[in-house]
Amino acid sequence: MGNMVKDKVVVITGSGAGIGRDFALAFAASGAKVVVNDVGRARDSDEFLANQVVDEIRAAGGEAIAATQSIATWDSAHEIIQKAIDAYGRIDCVVNNAGIVRDRFFFKMSEEEWKAVIDVHLNGSFYMSRAAAPHFKEQNGGSIVHMTSTSGLIGNFGQSNYSAAKMAIVGLSKSIALDMAKFNVRSNCIAPWAWTAMTATIPEDTPENKARVAKMKKMEAGKIAPLAVYLASDAAAHVSGQIFGVRANEIYFFNQIRMIRSLHRDGGWTPETIAEHAMPAFESSFFPNVPSLTLTPWDPI
Ligand SMILES: NC(=O)c1ccc[n+]([C@@H]2O[C@H](COP(=O)([O-])OP(=O)(O)OC[C@H]3O[C@@H](n4cnc5c(N)ncnc54)[C@H](O)[C@@H]3O)[C@@H](O)[C@H]2O)c1
Repeated sequence: MGNMVKDKVVVITGSGAGIGRDFALAFAASGAKVVVNDVGRARDSDEFLANQVVDEIRAAGGEAIAATQSIATWDSAHEIIQKAIDAYGRIDCVVNNAGIVRDRFFFKMSEEEWKAVIDVHLNGSFYMSRAAAPHFKEQNGGSIVHMTSTSGLIGNFGQSNYSAAKMAIVGLSKSIALDMAKFNVRSNCIAPWAWTAMTATIPEDTPENKARVAKMKKMEAGKIAPLAVYLASDAAAHVSGQIFGVRANEIYFFNQIRMIRSLHRDGGWTPETIAEHAMPAFESSFFPNVPSLTLTPWDPI
């Protein structure tokens, strides 16, 4: 048992399975009181996955309760946070981890597929953070850990809904970090890579995808948890508004968008002078628009 987050009360969304389950186990093993939130049910018994994780934590000597409401509405998100307050009297950290995918090429994506993903990832992260905010403000402290993705930060095929939500979560996190800094509230993002039910949806339809899946299968979900526990701990009191990543045994620090070139023209610009002058100057700095896998071709194990 560690004690990095001893007695902190943490709500972890989507922690009945995958990366979130490992978060719940790791937070509890590091001394936190964990609210295990998940709407999912076990395939064999129909029991809520959250209850199973709570049992695991208690069997290991940790403290946890389950919350099976969806994060995807204002009211149910508030109920999840209230559950933490009712059980433990406070809330110190929210880990916005729950997620779904509805992958489809953009030209075929339906409104339902778009809205479902935005509702869980972006709106869910807003509702959960917003529900915790008054408690954080009152107690003058708190931490939020959001899950972003290289699908948004870099790019990916067939994921315009997911990429949009994951990039928007970065904006949400950075704005929370600015607005809540005066109350000692921090907000950071993690881009994980792990073999879970979510990544098991990657089709093995081409040799490239087969190779990708074989590599992903070696990326354990438990490898992400140490960073989340650290970000929730007092040791990270100076860390806010940042973006990190974990892929097996590698840990990353991401850059953020800044102006990298500037041109000034007396009298301003016309479409013609942009074509003749500005764009040729900028073109040498253009970024190739590639899927994230292109930038991480090596084995991280
Ligand atoms: N696995 C990866 O490689 C990877 C890569 C980038 C980002 N992520 C992000 O990491 C997070 C965890 O992903 P994972 O791979 O463990 O996925 P997962 O599918 O294994 O787990 C997600 C969990 O969220 C739960 N959930 C879904 N909708 C919910 C809702 N409305 N309310 C409460 N719970 C809900 C599901 O029941 C599930 O147990 C997600 O935000 C995902 O987008 C994962």
